[in-house]
Amino acid sequence: MFYIAGTGSALPEKVVTNDDLAKFLDTSDEWIYTRTGIRSRHVITHERLNDLAIASAKQALADAGIAGSDVDLIICATMRGDTFTPSLACCVGEAICSRAPAFDVNAACVGVLYCMEIADSFIAAGKAKNVLIVSAEAMSKLVDWTDRSTCVLFGDGSGAMVVRAGKGRLAGELSCDPDSHVIRMPNIEGVNSPYNESEHLPLIMHMDGGEVYKFAVNAMGRNIEEVCAQANLTPADIDWYLPHQANVRIIDASLKKFRIDKSKVLLNISGCGNMSATSIMVLLDEYAKKGTFKKGDKLLFVAFGAGLTSGAVIVEWNKD
Ligand code: ACO
Repeated sequence: MFYIAGTGSALPEKVVTNDDLAKFLDTSDEWIYTRTGIRSRHVITHERLNDLAIASAKQALADAGIAGSDVDLIICATMRGDTFTPSLACCVGEAICSRAPAFDVNAACVGVLYCMEIADSFIAAGKAKNVLIVSAEAMSKLVDWTDRSTCVLFGDGSGAMVVRAGKGRLAGELSCDPDSHVIRMPNIEGVNSPYNESEHLPLIMHMDGGEVYKFAVNAMGRNIEEVCAQANLTPADIDWYLPHQANVRIIDASLKKFRIDKSKVLLNISGCGNMSATSIMVLLDEYAKKGTFKKGDKLLFVAFGAGLTSGAVIVEWNKD
């Protein structure tokens, strides 16, 4: 019920290489690159996440040829915006002079796919024509910078797309295998209440990398099979794969059984790391701007993340 009408992205200025990390962590470029495919990532220094989100949203609107007032719904995928309230989506709405309903979605790295499916439902119900989807993640504020097994994996950034009523989306598959232990980021509790007796936990990520790896490979493979079946396609019919950029080895392992030509699998993990929900958006914008996608091409987005969430969406590229 929708096609992608415009895209945008914005990354922080500061680039941190693996060698930079090796100055204060017991790690090396060789370890990080061979285990993950990551060479460097963008990290927030002076920027606000809101500003990155607004910049990418404005690019996507310009690319779609519409003004903020033409947007009927704003959905932002983020695990944590600059403020708990107003939501990141409300902040974007204010900056683009929109009065459309606006809310955030937290589905970790799968957030954008959840947003696409919500947008599809609004459009199918006749409640929206143009939906602005924005992702913005400041992973550098959430990881433990003393834990070499997690902090080296992530980067910060924002991306956006306008989806518009029309022919494009062919199928979508969302799922959740609930697990509150494998990836966990406690909220700070009882900060200022004289009554709250819960433990005061720091807001940093804990992750069992090996368990995430196993889940990711299974979930991505399963979601690709299911979404292709839903669209009456085979994995070989897909022109471009846009997988969540968490680890090149996870991407290779989950796609191996489909014997897909590697040139169809788009990557930017080397220079961006894992930007959670934002990874897929920045990847989409980068290759859209390069002119990689031709009208009628079938794009398959697939992702997994904390929750444990996962999903896949197939969209035909029908941008005007
Ligand atoms: N530098 C050097 N050594 C390291 C580093 C590092 N940065 N990190 C870990 N090691 C060490 C470990 O301590 C371990 O040492 P030991 O054998 O002496 O105990 C050794 O390297 C091997 O560690 P493994 O965990 O076996 O390494 P593995 O090959 O499994 O790779 C990785 C680890 C990269 C984390 C992998 O498991 C992975 O990518 N998992 C998925 C993570 C992921 O995708 N997370 C995103 C989830 S979505 C979200 O959070 C929003």
